[in-house]
Amino acid sequence: MRIAIVGAGYVGLTTSACLVKLGHKVTCCDALEDRIEKLRHGRVPIYEPGLEDLLKEGIASGDLTFTSCGRECVADADAIFLAVGTPSLPNGDIDLGQLENASRGIAPHLKGGAVVIVKSTVTAGTSSRIREVIAETRRSLDFSVASNPEFLREGSAVDDFMCPDRIVFGTDDARAAAIMREIYASLSEQGVPILATTTTNAELIKHAANAFLALKIGFINEVSDLCERSGGDVTAVARGIGLDKRIGQNFLTPGPGFGGSCFPKDTRAFAAAGRRHGTRQALVELLIERNELRKRRLAERIVAEAGLRRGSRVAVLGLAFKAGTDDARESPALPIIEHLQRAGVHVTAHDPQAGENALRQNPAIELAPTPYEAVRGADALVVLTEWEDYAVLDMARIAGMMRGRYLFDFRNVLPIDQKNRHNFHCIRLGRRSFR
Ligand code: UGA
Repeated sequence: MRIAIVGAGYVGLTTSACLVKLGHKVTCCDALEDRIEKLRHGRVPIYEPGLEDLLKEGIASGDLTFTSCGRECVADADAIFLAVGTPSLPNGDIDLGQLENASRGIAPHLKGGAVVIVKSTVTAGTSSRIREVIAETRRSLDFSVASNPEFLREGSAVDDFMCPDRIVFGTDDARAAAIMREIYASLSEQGVPILATTTTNAELIKHAANAFLALKIGFINEVSDLCERSGGDVTAVARGIGLDKRIGQNFLTPGPGFGGSCFPKDTRAFAAAGRRHGTRQALVELLIERNELRKRRLAERIVAEAGLRRGSRVAVLGLAFKAGTDDARESPALPIIEHLQRAGVHVTAHDPQAGENALRQNPAIELAPTPYEAVRGADALVVLTEWEDYAVLDMARIAGMMRGRYLFDFRNVLPIDQKNRHNFHCIRLGRRSFR
């Protein structure tokens, strides 16, 4: 099938490369000409394991092309995926501006019978709105819309696309449903469950799934606080509850709060949709509030327990919102660092991938090339991303380079325990601290 993808961001590129792998011919377009130029030469603007190789394979086979021209992208396409940004508005709702502009941009070039598929994460009713926008430009065009939410995690997007737990698509007519089935035929033959439903249901599934996963994280974070106070160990507790199949082991790791470009934005949008429809999503509203509070409390704890004052030095290990990505969007590290800086603390940070992206949001962070350089002369060390590199650090060397003895492991990754503590005051999440 000939497929067009509008938007060469993380979702658009993963979808493009993987659909070629599923046997389709794909053209991906984006208004950013220099991005398209780089992509034509196989240079990928984001860090996503496996993506660059897959894109290069697609380009070499001739089945994947890039263009900055909307007409060239969509004119021959049977299916057009819209994978553009849907940022938050101040009230938490999503801004449909990019999606509406992209729809207006492609409308004049669509061929009869084409299916326009909303891949971007949107609230219920958006696909119908996109249908209206296109119909305003092309009154007599026979076309369909569909909703096909993605469930890709950054850092494992290619695997998540090729081996998904399920594929969800929503359509409101038989032609669109048939096209959607054809797109994913090879995955369905491999036994991947397909849920075919309405566009509104598909949109709701995406937001409800992310809200539910975020609730799991919010829950274990609070259980973790209780473990700490009552002498328990959250790892054992999470395992014990997770062995119940109804609960499951995944997404029960405590941390400094969920971040990234999805959970914070999607929970806000879900809560906003509840308010708009007069049926408050009170659990999710509270979750958002507690997630914000968590970051503030952890920052206050660092200052108080380590006795930091103006001129103190803190080393932060980890700026990405999670390991395996260069993305620092809504990373819990950023508000925690800002809090420390407001208290007059100098922050030196290390991250294997996300340093530059974090620096763009907070130029006052001093970046260090290695974890050891970051801790030189520090009064306290704070771990905020669970990179594997930090699990193999030489703690004796770290102890020798620091000025102070405070260690806040908010991802429970450092290779340190009570018997081998190198004289550190060690504060860990959901476990007994030792000093
Ligand atoms: C998330 C979902 O997992 C994907 O299924 C979804 O497709 C994607 O959003 C999206 O909507 O596009 P992602 O944002 O890449 O994927 O990251 P996650 O791996 O879900 O982690 C989100 C945040 O939760 C991170 O800050 C992570 O550190 C935190 N987290 C996750 C925890 O604190 N504990 C956990 O047990 C799991």
